[in-house]
Amino acid sequence: MRFSTLSSKKILLGVTGSIAAYKAVELVRELSRQGASVTVVATKNAGEFIGAVTFHAVSGSAVYTDLFGMPAEPAPHINLPRQADAVVIAPATANFIGKMAHGIADDLLSTIVLAAQKPILVCPAMNSAMYEHPAMKGNLEQLRKYGYRIVEPETGPLACGDEGPGRLAEPSTICEAVKIVLEKKDLQGQKILVTAGPTEEPIDPVRFISNRSSGKMGDSLARVAKRRGAEVVLISGPTCLSKPWGIEFVPVRTAAEMYKAVLSYFDWATIVIKAAAVADYGLSTVLPQKLKKGTPDLSLKLTRTPDILKELGKRKKRQILVGFAAESKNLIAEARRKLQEKNLDLIVANDITVPGAGFGFDTNQVNIITADGEVFDSPLLDKEEIAYIILDKVLEVLQRSRGKS
Ligand code: PMT
Repeated sequence: MRFSTLSSKKILLGVTGSIAAYKAVELVRELSRQGASVTVVATKNAGEFIGAVTFHAVSGSAVYTDLFGMPAEPAPHINLPRQADAVVIAPATANFIGKMAHGIADDLLSTIVLAAQKPILVCPAMNSAMYEHPAMKGNLEQLRKYGYRIVEPETGPLACGDEGPGRLAEPSTICEAVKIVLEKKDLQGQKILVTAGPTEEPIDPVRFISNRSSGKMGDSLARVAKRRGAEVVLISGPTCLSKPWGIEFVPVRTAAEMYKAVLSYFDWATIVIKAAAVADYGLSTVLPQKLKKGTPDLSLKLTRTPDILKELGKRKKRQILVGFAAESKNLIAEARRKLQEKNLDLIVANDITVPGAGFGFDTNQVNIITADGEVFDSPLLDKEEIAYIILDKVLEVLQRSRGKS
């Protein structure tokens, strides 16, 4: 990837004594894969679960475990956080969270937390009963008051055999939270509504009309907008992607459901980006029973679904409206026609004949066209990088529209 929020960022990862410490190894790999350099500070109890040798091997850096005994680093509790861009505590045990909440500094990691003047992310991991104890709730509340970000644990089966909240968040989620903390906030104050994925128009209880949209383009736009400081709502048709962290997520199935959901957020939004591939036709009445094989030919009467973006174009007041157009011929002419017909400020044209672009791929190549007639061609890039480019263009349009008013 060409741009990564984590490139050349220095992350200080504090690991405490939980069975979930094994996931911290995966987290080091993920942060490093995305360009960060990671220094691990492990508590004595963390060493009961994972040895320093493992962290050294995956991070490629010295692992710190003690306040004393490293002559080359006389004051590691001051120097390590000073050199870092962010401090991440993952997994954070109940005991360690209690120490942080009460300002106890009795080992290297707890002393670092007190000395750090950098963003601190805390990723709890423990048994559900411990996580739901009022003492824990109070301690986490205290950490929030200190300005620490909490990456809440997931709910599911726990190492002790119980089931409930307490599983350490996935490394990809923690990475996303770190990116949200470190990214420049040039979309602060914007309220961005993104649509993603396909819609499904049911025929009968088991069949539907849909398309090959994976939701990746819309998902990338929502994540990047959140990182850049916007409040984001993602309305998505059915996809295999997981709900992005820190984003209000509204799942829908049909075009009619998407229409209703989009309109309910329209007055709230300052920017709407419609990356969804909405089915244009569906059955006006869904068959109540499974359609049986019968005659050799079958005709189904399809009717138009509501054109959501066109409706937004009619209702638009102050919002910036961004549409997408996936085309297999006459790309620019078709995109321009849709831009005008739907009263858009910007349209992102996808030439789906380009290998690696459009539906389903992790990459995309786009032509971004503004209402003023400017055309910007991107190279084939990861969809996340394309999302940065699209949002840069949206920001330019926004700044120009502010200049005019
Ligand atoms: O999801 P991915 O696999 O990552 O793929 C991304 C994508 C190719 C689906 C996406 O980038 C894209 O191009 N989406 C638009 C697909 C399309 O062809 O849209 P359209 O030409 O049918 O519609 C034009 C615009 O009107 C779109 O912004 C669409 O969201 C909107 N529309 C269309 C029909 C409808 N009933 N309501 C709408 O709002």
